[in-house]
Amino acid sequence: MLVLGIETSCDETAVAVVKEGKEVLSNLISSQINLHQKFGGVVPELASRQHLEVINLLITQALDEAKVKFKEIGAIAVTYGPGLEGALLIGVAVAKALSFVHNLPLVGVNHLEGHLYANFLTSTFTSLLLHFSAPSDFPLLCLIVSGGHTILFFVEDHGRYEVLGKSRDDAAGEAFDKGARALGLGYPGGPIIDQIAKLGNCKAHTFPRAYLGKNSLDFSFSGLKTSLIYYLQELKQRGDKLSLPDVCASFQQAIVDVLVDKTIRAAEIKKVKDILLGGGVAVNSLLRKEIAEAAEERGLKVHFPSPLLCTDNAAMIAAAGYYQLKLGKASDLYLDVVPGLKIPEG
Ligand code: KG4
Ligand code: ZN
Repeated sequence: MLVLGIETSCDETAVAVVKEGKEVLSNLISSQINLHQKFGGVVPELASRQHLEVINLLITQALDEAKVKFKEIGAIAVTYGPGLEGALLIGVAVAKALSFVHNLPLVGVNHLEGHLYANFLTSTFTSLLLHFSAPSDFPLLCLIVSGGHTILFFVEDHGRYEVLGKSRDDAAGEAFDKGARALGLGYPGGPIIDQIAKLGNCKAHTFPRAYLGKNSLDFSFSGLKTSLIYYLQELKQRGDKLSLPDVCASFQQAIVDVLVDKTIRAAEIKKVKDILLGGGVAVNSLLRKEIAEAAEERGLKVHFPSPLLCTDNAAMIAAAGYYQLKLGKASDLYLDVVPGLKIPEG
């Protein structure tokens, strides 16, 4: 079955065609980064307007690139939350209209589940095959680290989750973005800090790591941002010169240390063999390296989607939708957006 996926939860308009929940036939992403960059973050009204501007063209192009006609599509999957309300509304309205007109099943997908399912995708496009290694059987552990979420959950089977930990304040990507803003590096901050940090010494400064007690699998990153701001003020007062690479490397190390520690601990507690990563921060080179090393030492395996499938895309939505349909969980034309949608448990 071919599923057409639609994703408009934040600042990327994305449309994809995926075969049998696995093979990416097309994966188009229209990024709005340039539009929002001058404001230092995503402006919701601009995001919705831009989704509306490009979505119809993207759908046509995604079908063309996949070399399929609408009559060959078996279902439409769309993100209905979590995300920006106005942005989600565009994708959901378009998906409902297409489902009605073409008489196709509609399936509303949780964006966070989408990030998990990016790990199940494969493709003949070499750019999407990078680092691909299919997870073996369930149960699995999944860490989603994005601009809006940091969430660690146990995956017993398709659609069966247990949340083990999440951020109590800022998400990991938000910490990168806010850190970059304090350093005057622009938006989004993660990729910039990742690059600059490669030239620095991660031990130059010790930023705090919030472990929140030895048994907690929750995260907290807001103190780290505050600590960076104080450190920059201190440097200024002392008239010391800032070593940008050293600060970026030390700041990034503080985020990665906590993510790796808690993820490995959770994998040991739940006795899983495979760890799946997803979300934009899963592109981070230090996180990829350190979590893979820590896992290997313990006989565990870590899987990451290719960078293009870690950040927001519609192929992951189509894949998640496919498995949901297999579980008999279709939506109807009353599907509404849920901006604060959580990972379903149980
Ligand atoms: O998953 P995503 O595209 O969107 C959300 O659902 O939020 O993630 C975007 C986030 C941003 O905060 C961005 O700074 C971060 O992912 N990011 C990175 C890297 N690439 C993107 N963070 C750290 N290192 C990177 N290389
Ligand atoms: Zn996302």
